Amino acid sequence: MRQPVDGWWPTVPLDSVGTAPVEVRTGDRAWVAFRPAPGAPVGVVEARCPHRLVRLAHGTVVDGTVQCPYHGWRFGPDGACTLVPSNGPDAAVPPRARLAAPWGVREADGVLWVAPVDPAAPGSPLPDLRATEETLTNLDASLEAGWHPLLLVDEVPDHGQVAAWLLGREYTVERAGDGFAVTPPVARSAVRFDVLWVAPAEPRVPLLECADDTDPLFAPGWLEPDRSASPAGVLAENFLDAAHFPFVHAGTFGAAEETYVEPFEVESDGDGLVSVQDQWFDNPEDPAVLQGIRPVRQRRRSTYVHRWPFQLLLRLEELDAGAVKTILFFLQPEALDSTRVYTKMLFHGIGGVAVPPPDVVAKEVAFEVAVLAEDLALQAAMTVRGLPLRMRDELHVRSDRSGVALRRVLARHRSPGAAPDPTDPTDPEA
Ligand code: FES
Ligand SMILES: [Fe+2]
Repeated sequence: MRQPVDGWWPTVPLDSVGTAPVEVRTGDRAWVAFRPAPGAPVGVVEARCPHRLVRLAHGTVVDGTVQCPYHGWRFGPDGACTLVPSNGPDAAVPPRARLAAPWGVREADGVLWVAPVDPAAPGSPLPDLRATEETLTNLDASLEAGWHPLLLVDEVPDHGQVAAWLLGREYTVERAGDGFAVTPPVARSAVRFDVLWVAPAEPRVPLLECADDTDPLFAPGWLEPDRSASPAGVLAENFLDAAHFPFVHAGTFGAAEETYVEPFEVESDGDGLVSVQDQWFDNPEDPAVLQGIRPVRQRRRSTYVHRWPFQLLLRLEELDAGAVKTILFFLQPEALDSTRVYTKMLFHGIGGVAVPPPDVVAKEVAFEVAVLAEDLALQAAMTVRGLPLRMRDELHVRSDRSGVALRRVLARHRSPGAAPDPTDPTDPEA
């Protein structure tokens, strides 16, 4: 049957719309419908959050608004954003933080009817062009000249071959003398952090270094490599982002985190970024707190490092207790819809012990597995096949400084010498 372009569209039975948001469609256009309160008239707004293009159907209804599952932005039934939690409760909302709403919504005959535009004056079909171009997918040609993880060294058998995917190609790997033979041939290969790295073309940026990795006072722990259907660029931003903690990580450590994100600086040399962020936190597990030697309120320093394309590190340093936890996070863009995720951790001084014993390491690793599972579950709500590189395709706020710097690095390596993005804010919107 031919679908009308404009006019009233029957979408879903009314009894399927309650105070949990549901996605409804008018042709190729997606909306999210919800009741702000039980029995209240249905509100229908654009289906994707303008911040990071997350599907709001994965969100929840809070105080009459639909709350995005990623960073908790809230939108009323008219589409207006009422809260950006990372900016603080009293901050003004960025003017562009608004969801489109359809021209009309009607509840009749047990059906939710939606008219995207005025049926009496059929106009343009409201094309949604955001993020349909200028995105960095896992198959982007620029990634050929980067270092990528291919396998854990331990995954390569003593005899025979093992297969691995990178940038849409299948490779086979086998041991050869002291090293590895990779087919088809790559420009460079190396072993670091117990990982076999390859660069299909001559790499433009050196492999990440981390002194903690070779320091005998640090105990290592590995998470099993995992996989996500999200593109590596989107996962990289997730790793650099702290504003999602209270919302995505409520089941692990997020409930105790502030939704407000203190201003922080990001330094970039064009090939990556570094951001040092100091916070206060409660440290009830510090033995010196239990002995009454130190107060429970302590300082923590988070140092985020990114090297192009997808090598990341977070060093969490308890400045008073002296404990250090370093998380190495590497992303392997296997195919358009597959990214392999490597997480190595390094621990020092946990519980007051210089080199933590295996049971402490195992406990920390198990906790990180739960944290990563929360991040990967959120990825199911993402709608993009690549990281949008054109700034106006999303909405950037102050807490997105690292995400903006990441996009600039990826864009620079994608189109070296290109004119700057005219939609790039010199500073993210407040
Ligand atoms: S609040 Fe929706 S993606 Fe950030
Ligand atoms: Fe996270």
